[in-house]
Amino acid sequence: MNESDKGANYIRTALEGPVSNEEAILRPTRFTDFTGQQKTIERLEVMVGAARRRKDPLNHILFSGPPGLGKTTLALILGHEMERNVRITSGPVVEKPADLAGLLTNLEEGDILFIDEIHRIPKTVEEYLYSAMEDFRLDIMIDQGPNARSVRLNLSRFTLVGATTRSGLLTTPLRSRFTLQTRLDYYGKEELLKIVRRTCSLLEVEVEDGGAREIAARARGTPRIVNNLINFLRDYAQERAEGVITKNVAVAALELLEIDARGLDEMDKRALRVMASHYNGGPVGLNTVAIAVGEEPETLEEVHEPYLIQEGYLQRTAQGRVLTARGYEAIGFDPRSGKPVQPELF
Ligand SMILES: Nc1ncnc2c1ncn2[C@@H]1O[C@H](COP(=O)(O)OP(=O)(O)O)[C@@H](O)[C@H]1O
Ligand SMILES: [Mg+2]
Repeated sequence: MNESDKGANYIRTALEGPVSNEEAILRPTRFTDFTGQQKTIERLEVMVGAARRRKDPLNHILFSGPPGLGKTTLALILGHEMERNVRITSGPVVEKPADLAGLLTNLEEGDILFIDEIHRIPKTVEEYLYSAMEDFRLDIMIDQGPNARSVRLNLSRFTLVGATTRSGLLTTPLRSRFTLQTRLDYYGKEELLKIVRRTCSLLEVEVEDGGAREIAARARGTPRIVNNLINFLRDYAQERAEGVITKNVAVAALELLEIDARGLDEMDKRALRVMASHYNGGPVGLNTVAIAVGEEPETLEEVHEPYLIQEGYLQRTAQGRVLTARGYEAIGFDPRSGKPVQPELF
């Protein structure tokens, strides 16, 4: 890793998973503690309210959306609100039908099985999920050859909660078995600000208004990034200032991480740069950009593009992706000439 990649790498880690053991303290445990995603929360409250009133298990729920927006958090909140256990697993871990049978037969009525990255569940296992979700039974083949026979396992009525960053990769039969499919969106500035204040208060870090706004503005709409930035800023404030995250402290620390004022990560900027310097700002096909930046097209489309489009750096047209004036500016290019403002830097 060269020097200039360090800030970018920090964000990638932030997107991919917890970097600190404070994760547990920071996770909201109740609907009332969860900021934003209003539509999703309202849908979930309706379902939880009805299930509790009828004393039924919750219907199956699928969360989709980019990393770090609260999918796992919501699955755990559902457990709290339903007062039921949540078992957590992940698509690639459930390798064989027997793995699935093991998980499902251990569930009690109303328990929640959370399958993260559910789009990565093997096809051979996925087919067994259909009858498990629909009829709460599994027909498993045991033995081979002449002794092969099918055994029916009756399951407790459980709730499957799935999460995926790539809803497009889910098969229709699987997707259609979820009563609710709900997508999480990037958080707005005010919501992020609220999350910044909540995290700082839980970690007992003093933050001034200017500092909080700076963090919210550079967190790429993502609560997980908020939390990771605050972790670093707390260290920075302690070592380089009087322990308070003022605006100046926030700016200096974020500069040290090489996180620009827009909070774009390295892959975001690489994609924008490729479009500007190799394809005159487009229109260019998603696959072409993906190959040029060395990322899978699906990841680019479902993890990076939504933010770039929402913030107006990029447009999706029938002919392909097109860079906007704002997109050019974000990477230091002049939108009119399509050239770098300071050519010697490129
Ligand atoms: N709405 C929210 N309010 C406060 N914190 C949140 C919220 N959503 C997510 N977080 C924080 O962000 C972190 C990442 O969320 P997580 O549920 O793991 O995201 P995902 O599963 O979508 O990748 C959590 O540890 C939690 O502390
Ligand atoms: Mg998660």
